[in-house]
Amino acid sequence: MGVVEKTGRAVAVPGENQMVADLCVVGGYAQYAIRPARFLVPVPDGIDPAEAVCIPLAYLTAFQMLTRYRRLAAGATVLIIGASGTVGTALLDLSRHLGLKAIGTCSAANFPVVERFGATAVDYHAGDFVAAVRSLTADRPGGAGVDAAFDAIGGAHFDRSFACLAPGGLLVGYGSQTMAIGREGMISAGLGMARLKLWNAMSFLLRHRQAVFYSITALRASQLEEFKTDMAALFKLLRDGAIHPVVIDRLPLAAASQVHARIDAGGLGGKIVLLPWGSA
Ligand SMILES: NC(=O)c1ccc[n+]([C@@H]2O[C@H](COP(=O)([O-])OP(=O)(O)OC[C@H]3O[C@@H](n4cnc5c(N)ncnc54)[C@H](OP(=O)(O)O)[C@@H]3O)[C@@H](O)[C@H]2O)c1
Repeated sequence: MGVVEKTGRAVAVPGENQMVADLCVVGGYAQYAIRPARFLVPVPDGIDPAEAVCIPLAYLTAFQMLTRYRRLAAGATVLIIGASGTVGTALLDLSRHLGLKAIGTCSAANFPVVERFGATAVDYHAGDFVAAVRSLTADRPGGAGVDAAFDAIGGAHFDRSFACLAPGGLLVGYGSQTMAIGREGMISAGLGMARLKLWNAMSFLLRHRQAVFYSITALRASQLEEFKTDMAALFKLLRDGAIHPVVIDRLPLAAASQVHARIDAGGLGGKIVLLPWGSA
C-alpha cells in the first residue's frame, strides 16, 4: 500500500499522488518501492490505509478461495481451519458477508475472535474436530458435513479436513503450515499436495467431493485481470463498510522484529500494521 511518488515515462495510470495497492511478496517493508504499473490497483478515497493493507494478501486469498472455485449459496456451511489467524478471520468476515454458516477451528483462548464473526468455534486441541464438525452438521439435507473447507495446515491434516466434507463438498488447501510449526517435514507436506490431486482425480468414487490447492501468486501470474478485479471489489466492500478487517496495532517500521516475535508467539487475533512513514 502506498502513494505513487513518480511514474515511468510510458505510464499513464495510475497517476502521481494516487494511493495504490500491490502484493509485493518481498520488499514491502520499505518506505519506497519500485513496482510494475500493471500490478497496481487504485485504493478509493475514504479508506483507512491500515485496513486497506489487509486486502491484498489476507482478504484476497480468502475472497478468491470462497468465490473462484464454487458458487456457494447463502446458507451453505464452510469449515475454516485456523480461523483465528489473519486469513482465517478474513474468511470468517467474508463468509458472514456472503451469508454462509461458518465453523472455525482455533485454540480455546481465541473463541471470542471467531465468535465475533457469528461463527461456531471448535477447539482443535480438545479431541477430534472431525467428529465435532460432523455432529454440528448432522441435520444438513443431503448428508452431514460442510460444503467447503479451507485448510492451510497441510500434510496429513488435509485428510481430516476432507473427512469433514458433505457429499459434493470442496476442500481448498492453501498452505503447509505444519512444516513451519515443525511437526512434519517436506515429504509429508508434498504428500499432502499429492492427496489433493488424487482425491480430485478419484472424486467420482468419493461421493463427488473435490480438492484443489490455491496459490495467490500462481493465480496472479495466470489471471492478473481477475486478481485486480477481485482486489477492486474488496476495496469497494471495505469502503462501503461491508467488511471489517481487524487491525489490533499500528507501529513504526522499526518495530518489525518485535512484531514478528509477537506473531510467532501466536494468539494475536488480528493484524499488526507497520507504518513506514512513522505513526501519526
Ligand atoms: N496459498 C496462498 O496463496 C496463501 C496466501 C496467504 C497465506 N497462506 C498461508 O496461510 C497460512 C496461514 O496464514 P495466516 O497469515 O492466516 O497465519 P496466522 O495469522 O499465523 O494464523 C495461523 C492460525 O493457525 C492456527 N493454527 C495453528 N495450528 C493449528 C492447527 N493444528 N489446527 C488449526 N489451527 C491451527 C492458529 O490458531 P490459534 O492461535 O487459535 O491456535 C493461528 O491463528 C500460512 O501457512 C500462509 O503461508 C497461503
